[in-house]
Amino acid sequence: MDVCVIGAGYVGLTTSTVLANYGHQVYCVDKQKDRVEMLRNGKVPIYEPGLEEMLVKNSKKGQLIFTTDLKTAVSKSDVIFIAVGTPQDMDGRTDLRFFEGVINELAPLIKTYKIVITKSTVPLGTNEELEQKLLEQGVLKENVDVVSNPEFLREGTAIHDMLYPDKIVIGMKEQRTIQVLQKLYHFIDAPYIITSLSGAEMIKYASNAFLAVKISFINELAKIADAYEVDITDVALGIGMDPRIGHHFLQAGLGYGGSCLPKDLSSLEHQSIKKNIAPHLLQAAQTVNDSIIDHYLNKLKTEVPDYQKKKITVWGATFKPNTDDLRHSQALKLINRLVDEGSNVHLYDPIVSLKIDNTSTYQDMFDSVKDTDILIVATEWKQFIDADWKKVSAQMRGKIVLDCRNCLQPYTLRKNGLLYLGVARP
Ligand code: UDX
Repeated sequence: MDVCVIGAGYVGLTTSTVLANYGHQVYCVDKQKDRVEMLRNGKVPIYEPGLEEMLVKNSKKGQLIFTTDLKTAVSKSDVIFIAVGTPQDMDGRTDLRFFEGVINELAPLIKTYKIVITKSTVPLGTNEELEQKLLEQGVLKENVDVVSNPEFLREGTAIHDMLYPDKIVIGMKEQRTIQVLQKLYHFIDAPYIITSLSGAEMIKYASNAFLAVKISFINELAKIADAYEVDITDVALGIGMDPRIGHHFLQAGLGYGGSCLPKDLSSLEHQSIKKNIAPHLLQAAQTVNDSIIDHYLNKLKTEVPDYQKKKITVWGATFKPNTDDLRHSQALKLINRLVDEGSNVHLYDPIVSLKIDNTSTYQDMFDSVKDTDILIVATEWKQFIDADWKKVSAQMRGKIVLDCRNCLQPYTLRKNGLLYLGVARP
């Protein structure tokens, strides 16, 4: 099929590249000329394992074309994906500026039958409005069907997640769109969840909100477990065995961050309040997440009362491993907090080279711990878990390692003369 994807961001690029790789002719449109130029030269502006190779391969074949020319892309395509950003505004609501901009540009270009598919995460009712706005701006009813088809891609495994999703969610009004979507996703073997436009919108918010609640649940339990000297990893393993609970997203640590969970939770809270429904649980998840950095620093304080006067090395700055994304990163919040408290902070991250006033950034993880008093592991990168702890211990001046992701082996650290501090890892 001929496909137009509007937005060459994280979701748009993954969608374009995978669709092109499986035989579709894809026109990926972005307003930013320099971004389009960069993509034409085979350079991907985001860090996503495997994406660049697949993108270059399909660009060379002419299967994937990057352009700023929306008009031509729309005229050549049967389906049009909207994959522009829907960020958070100052109040935590969804800012639909880019999304609405696309509707206004698209309306005059739809002259023959097209299916407009929304990939962007948008509040409940937005796809209904999208259809209304297109019709109000002169698009003929028989020339357009709107479909809500949210994505559930995780950063770092986006290509895998697009190829092997656990479901394909389709929110639609016209049955005829389903066959088109099946043709589009011919290479994916997953059950279809067919629902209303707003049903699909809600599945996306509900997924991310549930994940956030699950993480905050285990983090609150970790505080209780810590007070009773219980190992939270045993508790997570025990409850996770129950298939109704499951093992995923029960890793206690610094909490959730990134470009989706905090934003979507906040948006759903606002959508709930708008209808006079108090979002007690959603707000509680956020409150727990906001409390965790304090909890870890209090833990450190019980061991080193004047930790602010010590030399501290932090490993990891991004919101999770295998990404360069710093958005809503709990690790970064922790770093800024230490800097604000006046600590002498040294940083190492495997991908991001941070420039923060009053900190030193290192390119080598072992150099970063030289003569340091305290090492804080803020993100669970594999290279931290598998570190040569004998070498780390020899480099350090002090012996304290604060494991903010419960990802290290306490025994291995102790064997190498280090004092392991985690939350609920007695
Ligand atoms: C998430 C959703 O998983 C994905 O389906 C959606 O499309 C976009 O948002 P992503 O933002 O890439 O994906 O991150 P994810 O891997 O879900 O992790 C989110 C956060 O939760 C990270 O900060 C991670 O460190 C934290 N987390 C995750 C925990 O603290 N504990 C866990 O057990 C799992």
